[in-house]
Amino acid sequence: MSSKSSNSENDQARARRVHFGEAGGLRGFPPFRAECDIEDCEVEGLIPEEIDGAFYRVGPDFQYPPAPGNIPFDGEGHLCMFRIANGRASFKSRYVQTQRYKAQLAAHRRLFGVYRNPFSDDPSVVNVSRGTANTHVVFHAGKLFALKEDSPPVAVDPLTLATLDDYHTFHGKLTSQTFTAHPKFDPQTGEMLAFGYEAKGLATDDMAVYAVDAKGNITWEAWVKVPYVGMVHDFAVTQKYIAFLIIPMATNVERMKQGHIHYAWDSTLPTWFGVMLRGGDGKDIRWFKGPERCATHVMGAFSDGDKLFVDVDMAMKNQFPFFPNLHGEPFDPKSLTGHVTRLSVDLSKKNISDYEMEVLYPEVGILPRQDDRYQTVHYRHGYMATTDASRPLNPKLSGLPFRPTNCYTHFDHATRRTSSFFIGDDSGLQEACFVPRRNGAPEGDGYLVGVANRLLEGGRADLVIVDTQHMEDGPVATVRLPFRSPSQVHGSWVPGDQLPKR
Ligand SMILES: [Fe+2]
Repeated sequence: MSSKSSNSENDQARARRVHFGEAGGLRGFPPFRAECDIEDCEVEGLIPEEIDGAFYRVGPDFQYPPAPGNIPFDGEGHLCMFRIANGRASFKSRYVQTQRYKAQLAAHRRLFGVYRNPFSDDPSVVNVSRGTANTHVVFHAGKLFALKEDSPPVAVDPLTLATLDDYHTFHGKLTSQTFTAHPKFDPQTGEMLAFGYEAKGLATDDMAVYAVDAKGNITWEAWVKVPYVGMVHDFAVTQKYIAFLIIPMATNVERMKQGHIHYAWDSTLPTWFGVMLRGGDGKDIRWFKGPERCATHVMGAFSDGDKLFVDVDMAMKNQFPFFPNLHGEPFDPKSLTGHVTRLSVDLSKKNISDYEMEVLYPEVGILPRQDDRYQTVHYRHGYMATTDASRPLNPKLSGLPFRPTNCYTHFDHATRRTSSFFIGDDSGLQEACFVPRRNGAPEGDGYLVGVANRLLEGGRADLVIVDTQHMEDGPVATVRLPFRSPSQVHGSWVPGDQLPKR
């Protein structure tokens, strides 16, 4: 055999093999890729007998080595479920079988290019949904939905995690091409409120807003225009209003055509806070202007007459090093820090053009949550994964570019006091989720569940269960996994009495 043909065969073999290597810009975010089942997980401490339900979480996990220039947020959605009952816990993980996942599996290779850039895809997938279902998992009307904001929901069996519908359109009534990863739930009506942005296709300035009733039927739809096209990751819903925050994470088609990802942060753009009546036709929407700020998640929101209050995690600049700064500004870690910040506006004032901002607490963090039974109504208790730089850090981790998120903090808006759970000097925490102590427990009375990564053990994952009344006491129980586990963006708790009985 000549060396020429041998080289050619090697090239073909190299093209066929799956090899992540350093994975482009994804160092530190290795894929997991294993679908797992563990019955009767190892537990330290005692899981309270009163906890009965499932903690679902989802995050990106690349099925095949990502394209050069891609970012961790573009991995395929990998769902995990911790089922907890009778003091025991089981663990299950499955990839979401999206259209994209199935097309790539059939081809045994990557077919999609970089994050939300259809220009970078293989021509064979022009009619395949790009949705990765990797951002949030929510439960409504008996269905579990894995969500990514650039595509419709993917319905998943809540017990087996098998994918049931890779393009769920609510009986054909979803007219938007996209659907938020952060729908809200009205505890009084059982409705799910949702929206889609870039709703008529790539870089369109249309947003569609929906109400889905307790049986899973779309009962309200309104369309609005945004001031400029960019990321609208989360939104706020109260009993009276719906609000959006438009941040300078702008959609950039020219850069996409050059092979870059969907967004670039344009620091010359303002923020816009848009408020519309819930249940109206959208023509009443008012846009209030603010300075350059970054805020992607809502802790809670409520309205009091004509006044609207929305609590977000807000920073001064682009918080996401994965998303480039359009004008080349360096990332300053201090400007990336988020604080719980209350945005407010008095809708009775007809001549105002801006919104109010008040930083409520000094704690630094991301991914705020609340007792989800109090979405859309006045609420008192919030929670957030925070980074307390005054806590000790294991010397072996001193080379990390950022301090790990090392606390869960409880924010009591009635007293403006906080209390924190510290995970230790060798671990990092992912987003927490609130679990009521029992059906009908008062707001904020229960537990936080969340995954800790043990950074000196290769990131091995533990689920920690922390009593919200005794945050400083440490976890009442820790569910030990023998591996790192898929990554997580968001998660939800579903009470056991809402799960199918099969
Ligand atoms: Fe999110």
